[in-house]
Amino acid sequence: MNKRIGILTSGGDCPGLNAIIRAVVKCASQKGWEVYGIPYGTEGFLKLERGKCQSDDLKLKEHGYDLPGLLQGIDILQFLSGSILGSLSKGNTEDKAIAQAIIQGYKDLELDALIVVGGDGSLDIIYDLAQQGQWNIIGIPKTIDNDVPFTERSLGFRTAVDTVTSALYDLTFTAASHDRTMIVQVMGRNAGHLALHSGIAGGADVILIPELTPQIDSDLIKNICLHIAQLRWSGRKFALIVVAEGVKNSQGEKEKYIGDYLAEQIDKMSHQLCLTNKPEFCDLETIETRSTVLGHIQRSGIPSSYDRLLAATFGKKAVDLIAEENYNQLVVWQNGEVQNQPLDKVVAHIKQRHQQGVCPNPVNPDGFLVATARSLGIYLG
Ligand code: F6P
Repeated sequence: MNKRIGILTSGGDCPGLNAIIRAVVKCASQKGWEVYGIPYGTEGFLKLERGKCQSDDLKLKEHGYDLPGLLQGIDILQFLSGSILGSLSKGNTEDKAIAQAIIQGYKDLELDALIVVGGDGSLDIIYDLAQQGQWNIIGIPKTIDNDVPFTERSLGFRTAVDTVTSALYDLTFTAASHDRTMIVQVMGRNAGHLALHSGIAGGADVILIPELTPQIDSDLIKNICLHIAQLRWSGRKFALIVVAEGVKNSQGEKEKYIGDYLAEQIDKMSHQLCLTNKPEFCDLETIETRSTVLGHIQRSGIPSSYDRLLAATFGKKAVDLIAEENYNQLVVWQNGEVQNQPLDKVVAHIKQRHQQGVCPNPVNPDGFLVATARSLGIYLG
């Protein structure tokens, strides 16, 4: 049976969103279905309801791109980061009238199902709306934080790992030229996946993630200084430190620039340790720190081949689930293949973890990657 489906991207953007949209439109078009792209997450339904856009404007065509001249026909969506639909970080669905209008927007479009490409926060909020409005939804996990539960991978994560890894490579040479300690603050919200993966791949000497070092105290700083001193003794005069933004200061509070905070603490501690005149610390006097915040660069870049592949498989799976009318599922990556998990289970887990103020899918401190980092001599606190 021909279907009419919608797709929206919600929450912080990440590389690969357009590749997902492309995959969904291609797979659905092959079945003869219609696909509607909802602009700015659920905000698009509101716009529709308030007459600010018309349903026909939202129709996505398989070859909807319109490049000039000989470039016509290039399948550009595969390569573009951002989202052609726009995304919404903070909605206002707690307002009942707004929630009602959004719910009505879905109904007015006469959709059979909606594909929600979102992270843990968006999935939580949109699942509730879907329950109220009796929508049929399929979730697709996306986030550079990789913190959506029940999936080993979220779209966009691997490209962000490549971006940070490449920044570490670039910083290595300037660090080495000046015998400096380079601190790189990376995103990840309350999870350390991005810092851990890129830190290992990028040859970091120290990786600080909230799962292992929730906050920076003087013992930790002292150990970092000691680690740097040992590196110097062994002939490596510079160091790379990756710190996840979720790591907190000595008072257990979040810092906007935790990398700068860390640099300041290392400067102070290395100076104090030098004054002790202990031979292992005597070289520390010359430590110079510099901090770099990679920021939203991590959310952009050409989606890696891995993320494009993930987008293709996730998109196909979402369309297959709709064809089977197996709704209210999250498309996931588990054990090397694409699968699905019931959204009620996933969202219950997310809600519980959010209520406890903890990350829904943290790094496993006893996992293989942490063990690998330690075996490589990386200091993790
Ligand atoms: O969740 C993705 C993410 O990039 C986090 O890593 C980061 O903490 C946050 O979003 C930044 O949000 P914003 O784009 O609102 O500054």
